[in-house]
Amino acid sequence: MSLLELDDVKVHFPVKKGVFFDRTVGHVYAVDGISLSVEAGQTYGLVGESGCGKTTLGRAVLRLVDITSGEVVFDGTDLAKLPDEEMRQFRRRLQMVFQDPLGSLNPRQNIESILSEGMAAHGIGTDRADRREKIKAILARVGLPANSLSRYPHEFSGGQRQRIGIARALVLEPDVIICDEPVSALDVSIQAQVINLLEELQESLGLTYLVIAHDLAVVRHISDVIGVMYLGSLVEEAPSDALYAGPKHPYTRALMSAVPVPDPEVEDRRERILLQGDLPSPANPPAGCRFHTRCPWVQEKCALERPVLTDLGDGHKVACHFAAEIENGTIGLTRATGIEAVVGTDKSADVDAAEPVADKVPAAKVPAQKASVEDAVVVAKPVAVEDEVVVETPVAVEAPVAGKSVAEKPADVDTDADVAAENESDEAAAPEEEAVDKAVPEDKAVDKDKAVPEDKPASDEVADAAGTGAGGKTGSA
Ligand SMILES: Nc1ncnc2c1ncn2[C@@H]1O[C@H](COP(=O)(O)OP(=O)(O)OP(=O)(O)O)[C@@H](O)[C@H]1O
Ligand code: SF4
Ligand SMILES: [Mg+2]
Repeated sequence: MSLLELDDVKVHFPVKKGVFFDRTVGHVYAVDGISLSVEAGQTYGLVGESGCGKTTLGRAVLRLVDITSGEVVFDGTDLAKLPDEEMRQFRRRLQMVFQDPLGSLNPRQNIESILSEGMAAHGIGTDRADRREKIKAILARVGLPANSLSRYPHEFSGGQRQRIGIARALVLEPDVIICDEPVSALDVSIQAQVINLLEELQESLGLTYLVIAHDLAVVRHISDVIGVMYLGSLVEEAPSDALYAGPKHPYTRALMSAVPVPDPEVEDRRERILLQGDLPSPANPPAGCRFHTRCPWVQEKCALERPVLTDLGDGHKVACHFAAEIENGTIGLTRATGIEAVVGTDKSADVDAAEPVADKVPAAKVPAQKASVEDAVVVAKPVAVEDEVVVETPVAVEAPVAGKSVAEKPADVDTDADVAAENESDEAAAPEEEAVDKAVPEDKAVDKDKAVPEDKPASDEVADAAGTGAGGKTGSA
């Protein structure tokens, strides 16, 4: 049995309306039936564009959001059904590293206080002095000097703050760490150092990771298995090498086609698939295959039947009715995939899910594309939001920046020189007021009158994740 197993996990946020009496007028289907397994000591990389439900899934594992249905089995125990107190004990073993290192650290606490808080709550360390020694050892492991203990988050650079976030998880001696976009807020050069640090810690401490990212280049080198998410569901899952060698789902093909290749000859010949249309609203997902409103190979059946994630052999799973036909070329493109696809965005958003889509969209010849990072960006404009329904507006899938591949970056993470260099960065000199502002990031796009539940402030969420908060969310079936 795998260390962490998710079975048909759903997280549906109710959309409420009304000033005096809240009525549920619909749901945001943020996570809509995800099953996956993470083996002990391995890394599962979860990728997908903004708004597809990655963070919600990570938070569901820790029960920081209510799980609508499904099982989250960790080490043989279904967390979704655990009473609060027992869940609190389990939270020590499942930790989270957040995307925004500054926002997740309380600006008024020094590093010792931040790191010892969770330890005290979980009974780690006999007394303050013992905890201090343990913290010093962990700080050294993540490449921070021992004198960091008395300093405050705003005195560190972005990369150092993420190391503090990692140290905060490590002091609780977890088995699993969920890293939610752990490097996307960092400089490209610092990204590689943090990814390398995570790998090194995994090797030495036997950690298991669920790494969430929107950038395929970030998860490629760290993941054993990669799952690709689209609108709340997995559309493809495969061992990392197999996925990169031969993506089978049209969405994964489009994502992969945006990844630049270091060889200039191959790069020049690389086919680019630019997706037409916008990411549909998770409050009103398309019928049938959720990707059919944008799929360049869409067929009539796609709007009618939802494909199931199916193992095509060797653990390569795909949710597409026509994966085999697309691969062997027996069905061709039914939509434009060149630059005209992006220009035609508005038109495609009106595609009627109930009617045969293939008939409406003329076959298009794909023009040869010149390689450029700009061309590779798959634009997704704001979705059509229904009158009363307020959901986050998806913005874009960013193409990985050329040369961003983490494998090519220096592996050196622990030297004092690094730490000093990071300290000297502009971020280290950020004034305290700014740090305080950043500490509580804006909530997702939520119109208070229209009443989508608000996100918790970052510090509350961190306290819940660490098991030091007042209680945290509970699962409800
Ligand atoms: N508390 C909430 N209440 C209502 N809707 C929510 C809530 N949290 C998230 N959502 C919605 O669920 C969907 C998935 O959000 P989520 O943050 O999980 O996406 P994501 O894949 O992590 O995106 P990103 O890459 O931008 O972080 C979005 O449409 C979002 O607006
Ligand atoms: S099922 Fe149809 S619409 Fe969905 S990915 Fe496959 S070909 Fe495209
Ligand atoms: Mg997210």
